[in-house]
Amino acid sequence: MESTIHDIRGADHPLDRFARPLHDLRISVMDRCNFRCPYCMPKEQFHDNYRFLKSQERLSFDEIVRLSRLFATLGVRKLRLTGGEPLLRANLADLVGDLTAISGIQDIALTTNGVLLGQHAVDLHANGLRRVTVSLDTLDPVVFTRMSGGFAALDQVLHGIDAAIAAGLAPVKINSVIERGVNDHTALDLIERFRGKPVIVRFIEFMDVGNRNAWRPEMVVPSSELVARIGARWPMSPIGENYRGEVAQRWRFDDGGGEVGFISSVSQPFCGACSRARLSSEGKFYTCLFATEGLDLRAAMRAGANDAELLNVIRGKWLGRTDRYSELRDEFRRAEPQPRKIEMYYIGG
Ligand code: GTP
Ligand code: 5AD
Ligand code: SF4
Ligand code: SF4
Repeated sequence: MESTIHDIRGADHPLDRFARPLHDLRISVMDRCNFRCPYCMPKEQFHDNYRFLKSQERLSFDEIVRLSRLFATLGVRKLRLTGGEPLLRANLADLVGDLTAISGIQDIALTTNGVLLGQHAVDLHANGLRRVTVSLDTLDPVVFTRMSGGFAALDQVLHGIDAAIAAGLAPVKINSVIERGVNDHTALDLIERFRGKPVIVRFIEFMDVGNRNAWRPEMVVPSSELVARIGARWPMSPIGENYRGEVAQRWRFDDGGGEVGFISSVSQPFCGACSRARLSSEGKFYTCLFATEGLDLRAAMRAGANDAELLNVIRGKWLGRTDRYSELRDEFRRAEPQPRKIEMYYIGG
């Protein structure tokens, strides 16, 4: 049976098969990246001759704005721009400006590796961006260079974070993927540096996204372990969600030094309240980070579909959604042959 809820204006918002609304749209605007993090774009595979999308294969800003408007009518309130590296897309601030004008959208955020943030922070803020999340896995320059695939850009990223704060994009969130034996020994340095500043560090359990990152369960550092290590040094207490289905579990330092978050999709999956959809830079619509197939909205748009037709296919896909990969991870990983999942660089996390 079809399931929908009505908002105060009477609009029809689809619920999926587990009664989850569509609240969040994550839009990848660029499949390229200026890093080669081994867990995402290993440089042996993403070499100089790798065939990324041609610019006309990526959705234009007009197409992104049109789809965002349609998604907003289905209940989306929050947009996140991702990549690859979104700041490699020329004139991204113009897109931000267009998206802020969409009725219903309450929050627009950007996830970046921070290298180009120093150049763009002021412009992004001037066009209506209010917050930014920077991926930063370590403050150790040697580990940083290894984890970014050979790019010694740590100082540039730190400069980008400062520039974002100065431009009014505070508090800046930092996403730090922790891999056992790679950077877990440097995790507390991040807290030490950013405690007491307008920065919220969030530790992410390393996930088996895509097909190329050679993930093994032993490489995951469960958040409970980090909570114990951090809490032993700086006593802290858990605090509630900012909104239903928030991905990070929040803890606050007892001495007023701010908060820290833990994203525990492996040890404590959060599919139950997952209201996130994803749009790839070539216009495919996915209902899970671990999806194997997407719905080609670019083809429909470029074949002349009108808004009602587009809404109908998006709505239909959400109504039929049953995704809960992280809750069924072990079962999925036993399947033979393994289906091809989408890649992180292509969908942006
Ligand atoms: P806030 O609005 O600031 O709370 O952002 P967020 O936590 O929704 O977004 P962010 O992009 O910072 O998410 C952090 C990381 O969590 C992502 O890069 C992913 O690694 C992971 N993540 C986000 N959404 C999902 C999801 O739906 N499933 C899984 N498994 N992981 C997710
Ligand atoms: N597991 C967890 N997080 C990942 N990210 C990229 N690959 C993985 C993975 N395998 C993170 C990036 C960035 C965000 C987009 O997703 O570091 O913060
Ligand atoms: Fe690294 Fe993010 Fe670029 Fe992937 S998209 S290579 S995780 S910086
Ligand atoms: Fe949502 Fe899929 Fe992540 Fe579960 S694994 S929280 S369904 S994106």
